[in-house]
Amino acid sequence: MSQKTKGMRIGILTAGGDCPGINAAIRGVGKTAILEYGMEVIGISSGFLGLINKEYFPLGEDDLSGILTHGGTILGTSREKPFKKKDGPGPRIDKPKLIKKHYDELGLHALVCIGGNGTQRTASLLAEEGLNVVGLPKTIDNDVWGTDITFGFDSALWIATESIDRLHSTANSHKRIMVIEVMGHHAGWLALYSGIAGGGDLILLPEIDYSEAIIADYLENRARLKKPYSIVVVAEGISRPEKQPAAQYIGQVIKEKTGLETRETILGYIQRGGSPSPMDRILATRYGATAVEMIAQEKFGVMVATKGNAITSVPLKEIGEKLKTVPTDHPLIRKARNMDICFGDQQ
Ligand code: F6P
Repeated sequence: MSQKTKGMRIGILTAGGDCPGINAAIRGVGKTAILEYGMEVIGISSGFLGLINKEYFPLGEDDLSGILTHGGTILGTSREKPFKKKDGPGPRIDKPKLIKKHYDELGLHALVCIGGNGTQRTASLLAEEGLNVVGLPKTIDNDVWGTDITFGFDSALWIATESIDRLHSTANSHKRIMVIEVMGHHAGWLALYSGIAGGGDLILLPEIDYSEAIIADYLENRARLKKPYSIVVVAEGISRPEKQPAAQYIGQVIKEKTGLETRETILGYIQRGGSPSPMDRILATRYGATAVEMIAQEKFGVMVATKGNAITSVPLKEIGEKLKTVPTDHPLIRKARNMDICFGDQQ
């Protein structure tokens, strides 16, 4: 055990949308900190809100036992954005100042921020305020810039793919078009990967503008070729009329333009629930352990990341507001097009 870090106190918080694997990451941070570096670990409740309200609790080895396989986050989460200017009447609380005050009062040497792009942005701004922060990239959307993959993505991919698999049999029984909406916020990673893994025929991504006429022609052509059914996978973030769910809109377009019998499924929060996949458990554990190593090396203001098979780190200030969306020339898209999978655009 390193004597330099013995007794050092670190905080962990989880912010943004929850996903499978967060508890595995907390366990990776906590166990490495306590057992390898002799650190003391504090769990911050409900993301940045817990630092604003000074809601926290000690995390001992016993608290970390048995959480590897549990979905959700034992710390709770929120979408609190402390740097967001509050509109409207009433006193404006200086939340960043409160966070710094409570960080100091808690005697924290460092803070591990587990979250998506919004969380990493807040972590970067807190680093500029003088906090020692290390970010861990977490989200089912896989849209955090600077890392090849976020944990949570693989688990959601399994859930979405398994769901699409189930749609094939009912679509075939009724000779229907099945439209399934997957999450992903403004990025199409989950739709692209689950669409291909699940044998989708037509995949709509926010990154590729689609034509309703091309969608209709493609599906009508499949019907003419006596294909018994079609599977349409749409990302929730595709362009569509305000407030209308993507699957509902695309289903309506298909019915109106082709007359083909169509049904819609919106997967929603199922993709965020349950136990993490083995790969997410491994990735979250690697990220968590690496975060503590960064702290021991006094390497702050960074986010742990994957580049290929290597675990590395990127400066938080480089991430900023950037989003990692699907490049339209992604090799997977080219391969899918070569197998006559349609992306709703002219090819
Ligand atoms: O960021 C994860 C995510 O599930 C997105 O895919 C989705 O658009 C969003 O969170 C939903 O946000 P909320 O949990 O606040 O409803």
